[in-house]
Amino acid sequence: MDYLSIKGPVRLEGEVEISGAKNAALPLIAATLLSDEPCTIENVPEVADIHTLLKLFGKLGSRFIFEDHTLTIDNEAIENTRATYEIVKTMRASILVLGPLLARFGHCEVSLPGGCAIGQRPIDLHLKALEQMGALIEIKNGYVMATAPEGLVGTRIIFDKITVTGSENIIMAAALARGKSELINVAKEPEVVQLCEVLAQAGVSIEGIGTDELIIHGTDRQPLKLDPFSIIPDRIEAGTYLCAAAITYGSITLNGVIADHLDAVTAKLHEAGCRIETEENSMTIYPAAKLKAFEISTTEYPGFPTDMQAQFMALATQAEGVSIIEERLFENRFMHVSELQRLGASIHLKGHTATLNGPIQLLGADVMATDLRASSALVLAGLAASGVTNLHRIYHLDRGYEALHEKLEKLGADIRRLKE
Ligand code: EPZ
Repeated sequence: MDYLSIKGPVRLEGEVEISGAKNAALPLIAATLLSDEPCTIENVPEVADIHTLLKLFGKLGSRFIFEDHTLTIDNEAIENTRATYEIVKTMRASILVLGPLLARFGHCEVSLPGGCAIGQRPIDLHLKALEQMGALIEIKNGYVMATAPEGLVGTRIIFDKITVTGSENIIMAAALARGKSELINVAKEPEVVQLCEVLAQAGVSIEGIGTDELIIHGTDRQPLKLDPFSIIPDRIEAGTYLCAAAITYGSITLNGVIADHLDAVTAKLHEAGCRIETEENSMTIYPAAKLKAFEISTTEYPGFPTDMQAQFMALATQAEGVSIIEERLFENRFMHVSELQRLGASIHLKGHTATLNGPIQLLGADVMATDLRASSALVLAGLAASGVTNLHRIYHLDRGYEALHEKLEKLGADIRRLKE
């Protein structure tokens, strides 16, 4: 296994290219199951989660070429609708094939994803909505056995909780269902919006895109023809680099971003004393004179994203005063706390709230990645820490950050990827 060796402290300077959004690419690749013609998707990030989903697609019988960030995929020859535990257990977002497979083929067997480091991650809301659309769902031997022999039927669905992949699964199911679906309390993340835009471009009637209420008129199992499209920039990768600049008192420019997708993140960085200027599709961050403590409560989009919570906790170790971070979405998304404490951070945990005293001069140490965003928080802390930080189990990082250490190296970081 590889690990990252980071020598700090450093001050980042320069420009970084932001990749396509993993969490937009995953549902959009799943959406190609709604088509029986080849689809072309550009700006697909080269990250492990994409390769995992494509491995699953290969087992279903899909044919694809993925090179230089462009994916050409043809699902015409799919004859297998069973997504096995062997793959689903490595990436829970595989559950995104459930809605489209059921809508297009009338049957599928998808392994229950199981929990992950940050929480139990149930899919009850996905299943409840599909049943309301007429699906017969049985949980057997760890698999969701779903059938809809007469096709899915549009109906009114109110999500008890806002769920990103739950919304995406049901939007894709509704696209091929018979009749009208009214979806209430739908996630409004930019990744959900792009899914709706791509389906609308393919002729699916969708009203309310970007709001929490959608009206979708399905095609009654008529497969879609998806025009070529490009994945939106990764707002979480962008936010992570903004934090990398902020924590090192550096100044960097991010190219290929949509600043609007980062409003809650940039507002918090302003509060912490940084200054951010945005152009057409780039953003430049300037350092705070002195980072100031802040308060965060994670919530659904457009509120402060849970996927940026760990990165801001690393930043809070350098902020003057007492920072308070509340994690409202996941029950166990504080795995980075004990690793940050190994670097010397002063963090007090009470339930879902972390209280940090800063600034603290972090000292390099060996630390372990536990989940995707916790890993990036430890990289940020390593950039600010004095001495060498070795970050182990970086397969977590590889799931969602393309060429992270090369991009950081280009920004002036002293970072090397080595073999254990
Ligand atoms: C998506 O996960 C993202 N993953 C996550 O990003 C992100 O953290 C999360 O949304 C929240 O923004 C992808 O898009 C692939 P949810 P998802 O369903 O859809 C509860 C990353 O770092 N819930 O919105 O699985 C659930 O337990 C990843 O890239 C139910 O109770 O999250 C949680 O408390 C990590 N029942 C809350 O809803 C359900 O059926 C939000 O979960 C579904 C969800």
